Amino acid sequence: MTIGRPVLRFQSVASTQDIVFRLAELGAAHGTTVRAEYQTAGRGRQGRRWDSPPSTSLMFSVLLRPTCGLHELGTFSLLIGNALADVFARYTQRPVALKWPNDVLIDGQKCSGVLIQTRTSPEPVAVVGIGINVSTSLDHLPAGATSLNVASGKPVDRESLFRACTDALERSWNQVGLELPRDVHRAIENRLWLKGQIVAVRDAGAEYRGQLIGIDPAGGLTLSIDGESKTIVSGELTRGPRVIGAEN
Ligand code: BTN
Repeated sequence: MTIGRPVLRFQSVASTQDIVFRLAELGAAHGTTVRAEYQTAGRGRQGRRWDSPPSTSLMFSVLLRPTCGLHELGTFSLLIGNALADVFARYTQRPVALKWPNDVLIDGQKCSGVLIQTRTSPEPVAVVGIGINVSTSLDHLPAGATSLNVASGKPVDRESLFRACTDALERSWNQVGLELPRDVHRAIENRLWLKGQIVAVRDAGAEYRGQLIGIDPAGGLTLSIDGESKTIVSGELTRGPRVIGAEN
């Protein structure tokens, strides 16, 4: 196991992502992990912020030094989301859904998000940042979010959860390839949020609307748009426009 060795812990930082990128420049080893109790400028996907009251969530970033090209890491995002979903299901005993590419939802509410950032120079590195709402109370959660304590109705131990997550990340890293392993692909399809429903995916100014069919083996999202199949490799998935009189 290398992910989570070593772990550097901070009370407050701007963003654990920045610290890991800086450590990468200084030659830190693959697997180096930075964890913070609080972030003053936490980053989310699509330029969003990630805010959480002190010591209520798990916030950490991991340095990965790929031995393959960064373009071969396409399945990693989904592998992590699915691995976190397995961990949360174990800890909460609740059904857990995966919103493509890697948000984890319980009762349709987001409890965790993953941000993967890469740099190619001077050497290729990927930094995976994970935020998990653990003991955050409802009045500190934004609309559409939940925490593991709220979802399970019992306290979840952050230390043991942290170890379970770094172990899960290690397993995901060992499964990375151009295609998802078959059993993982099946598990993702089974817990895929909005599968079969009408959805919208926005990506760099383009918007696609159609029925969510599933995940292709390389981790893309497949929609049926006017009867044609289209696979999308990145973007923001939302529920599509509601059709009056239909359930979606
Ligand atoms: C998202 O859902 O938009 C991704 C959220 C990722 C948040 C984590 S918290 C630890 C790490 N540091 C950051 O600044 N962001 C990630």
